[in-house]
Amino acid sequence: MDWKKNENKNHKFYIHTFGCQMNFHDSEKISGLLSENGFSEASDGEGADLVIFNTCSIREKAEQKFLSELGRIRKLKQQKPGLRIAVAGCVAQQMGKELLKKAPYIDYVIGPQNLHAIKDIVPVQDKKSVDMPLLSVAENPELASMELPAERKKRPGAWVSIMYGCDNFCTYCIVPHTRGREVCRPWESIRREVEALASDGFKEVTFLGQNVNSYLSGGLDFPGMLELADAIDGIERIRFVTSHPRDLSDGLIQAFGSLKKLCEHIHLPLQSGSDPILARMNRRYSLAGYREKIEKLRRQAPGISITTDIIAGFPGETDEDHEATMTALREIEYDGIFAFKYSPRPGTAASVFEKQVPDAVRARRLSDILALQNEITARKNMYLVGTVQEVLVEGTSEKDEKKLTGRTRSNKIVNFDPSPGLEKAKKIKMENLLPGRTVCLRIIRAGLHSLEGQLFTGNVAGLPPEDGISL
Ligand code: 5AD
Ligand code: SF4
Repeated sequence: MDWKKNENKNHKFYIHTFGCQMNFHDSEKISGLLSENGFSEASDGEGADLVIFNTCSIREKAEQKFLSELGRIRKLKQQKPGLRIAVAGCVAQQMGKELLKKAPYIDYVIGPQNLHAIKDIVPVQDKKSVDMPLLSVAENPELASMELPAERKKRPGAWVSIMYGCDNFCTYCIVPHTRGREVCRPWESIRREVEALASDGFKEVTFLGQNVNSYLSGGLDFPGMLELADAIDGIERIRFVTSHPRDLSDGLIQAFGSLKKLCEHIHLPLQSGSDPILARMNRRYSLAGYREKIEKLRRQAPGISITTDIIAGFPGETDEDHEATMTALREIEYDGIFAFKYSPRPGTAASVFEKQVPDAVRARRLSDILALQNEITARKNMYLVGTVQEVLVEGTSEKDEKKLTGRTRSNKIVNFDPSPGLEKAKKIKMENLLPGRTVCLRIIRAGLHSLEGQLFTGNVAGLPPEDGISL
């Protein structure tokens, strides 16, 4: 295959990613596959010979964003006919052939179950000699046993896929239609990747999947898999997304108390606080059952941060149903939420349900939800002022270069200015604050989206050494 490497050496790719963490991680795999094939990355679409859109179809808005970007690249292709355009991700899967028909200037359509097909992309000038099928959207359960190289841009945290697809068929959701049936990655393959990440200096792994807590491979369940991961040297923090409330077992709840590296944060999508709506969403839990699990989690790991997803204006949602969601938010007091207006997705059961809620009502309910949650988030963050938190440094703050930024175990962003600490405690050296180091910070201010900390140089039982730094 060396001939291919030479041919591709001067060719550049640019990836435009839409959507969730799963897609961002898929883009890292696309980069890895192309780099292995000798491509290098351009800083924008204009400087590239191959532009890849890694698309999202979870809501109409994400799809529209992609379509308008596609229009822009089409113009670029008119000026630069050698430009190749690939569409990957959920829109590729969903539209398939139709995409090629509607936009014949697209060269490749590759669904999320067929990422490996990227390796066959060759930047030739003549479309006829492209040596792969233009369309790669077949169902592919083999994905779970494929070890695709990922080119990770961020440190010290890394995403690691542990399962693909989803079998839940929540009635609003397109994912089971685009990412296919649930398949789990064998532990040995996960272990190899996590060990390689540890020896490459990564400190944190986030296990990824649509429904990670239903992980089951060769008799190993999710809590068992976390226990094995917890024993891998070099990795200091373990996280996972996303969980389905129905599959949140007592074993997993206990893991928050027993596994040292498992961070005290769980994203547990509620979607609605009304039982009749939950039933029509096919979520298969009740609000009471969900709340019982939250209570158990909070007993097991006091201070655990809990975040959620909420959909506003699902078909048939009445004012009372909406009020039930508002009450649930008030009572549960999440640390943060992602809330969305319901968006009908073609091919999903709910898209043809009766009593679709008018857009203006959906929008009003969404803004009620967001306003309420902002108050709660602000209050919960305020409670953290004065506490000392372990923060894993990620890099310099985007807003202020003099500041560093990192995350607490509970996944809150903390920015801090390292200089006062450096002056006061002379033994702290700047290099000890580089990404990947854990520091102890006293929280001095709280905002809605981030906290501000100060290097803590006192001694707190159970936290890293007196200079506030673990080496
Ligand atoms: N409309 C609005 N929000 C949706 N989500 C999934 N499908 C839809 C849809 N059709 C939300 C859910 C899910 C999150 C990833 O996206 O809240 O948890
Ligand atoms: Fe969609 Fe439900 Fe699967 Fe999540 S669990 S990906 S919301 S079908």
